[in-house]
Amino acid sequence: MSFLSNLFAKKEKSVLGVDIGSSSLKVVQLRKEHGKAVLETYGELALGPYGGGEVGQATNLPAEQITETLKDLLREAKVTTNNCGVSIPFARSFLTLVNLPYRASPEEQKTVIELEARKYIPVPLGEVQLDWFIVPKMSPSQNSAEQPVTGGTVEVLLVAVHNDELSLLQKVTTDAGLYSSFYEIEIFSTIRAVVEEHVKPVMVIDVGAASTKTYVVEHGVVALSHSIGTGSQDITRAIAISSNMSIARAEALKKEEGIGGSDTLGSPELVFSRIFSEVRRVLIQYETEHKKSVTSIVFTGGGGVTKELGAYAKSTFSIDVRIADPFTKTEAPAFMRPVLEGIGPEFAVAVGLALRKLEEI
Ligand SMILES: Nc1ncnc2c1ncn2[C@@H]1O[C@H](COP(=O)(O)OP(=O)(O)OP(=O)(O)O)[C@@H](O)[C@H]1O
Ligand SMILES: [Mg+2]
Repeated sequence: MSFLSNLFAKKEKSVLGVDIGSSSLKVVQLRKEHGKAVLETYGELALGPYGGGEVGQATNLPAEQITETLKDLLREAKVTTNNCGVSIPFARSFLTLVNLPYRASPEEQKTVIELEARKYIPVPLGEVQLDWFIVPKMSPSQNSAEQPVTGGTVEVLLVAVHNDELSLLQKVTTDAGLYSSFYEIEIFSTIRAVVEEHVKPVMVIDVGAASTKTYVVEHGVVALSHSIGTGSQDITRAIAISSNMSIARAEALKKEEGIGGSDTLGSPELVFSRIFSEVRRVLIQYETEHKKSVTSIVFTGGGGVTKELGAYAKSTFSIDVRIADPFTKTEAPAFMRPVLEGIGPEFAVAVGLALRKLEEI
């Protein structure tokens, strides 16, 4: 009897965040201890070499190969739990903030949203999983939410993810021996891990391998989001071409030299100036539509680690710039802090997923 009750009392305390990126897989394992998130292990494995490419380059691998890589990563990182949350790539999801008629009855509101969503989601609703979130209207003092009025409108964040994408992620997760209780669009995971400011609008810039995701977060809600088809792999390619060297050598040089490296033709600064001109467009669009200024920028993603990127962005945008440090939300030995700070931006999504999963415990 006591044996049985002990057995049932033993509760799994560790959780895992799994970020399936275009160039690499990342995992972060946390454990809850006295209400704190203790970092147990983390790891990253590049997908490039599994697809005949190089580290740092984006891939488009079949589910079986992603599964094999994930299994290798779980082993290498000595992951001990199979309870996880998994990210959905922003590129495979659809997100928009719309104004819709307000209904006092939740049932009627649901019907209105589902009917109206058809106008905004560019694919048939039968092909996607639809979700939404009603954005609380803040009072002029910005401290409390106002109740919408009958006959008025509500701001709704519509979110859709293609069924095929969810099936692929489910297959990879299950085949790797994991159990995922949720799939979350990566930008929500990132926000949980890196956005500290809850009132003023903040812009997050996730510089990935294939693309750069940029979005404005206000009151914890995504007010505007945009994907830019240029990422850190384009810097590697530019260096390789202009200096006539291998992708592997160019990748190493990029990490060594940072923003000011290489000659003018293949310079990382040139690629970032292209990314930044699109970021500026998003910034202006937000500020015009919402009549508010973005007060700071937070960089995440592997490209966010680029040396001197912060200073370059500060001189371009003339606002406060921060490089994300998501591991500060976790407890880790002091001697690991410098390492964790250096790799933090790449692990923002995985940390955010693990933090959400911890809330289930
Ligand atoms: N120290 C560094 N300096 C500059 N670039 C770096 C550094 N470390 C990693 N990168 C680059 O960051 C990119 C990988 O970033 P990240 O891991 O965020 O991408 P991903 O999540 O796989 O891609 P995506 O988000 O586009 O799906 C690679 O192109 C890599 O070369
Ligand atoms: Mg990523």
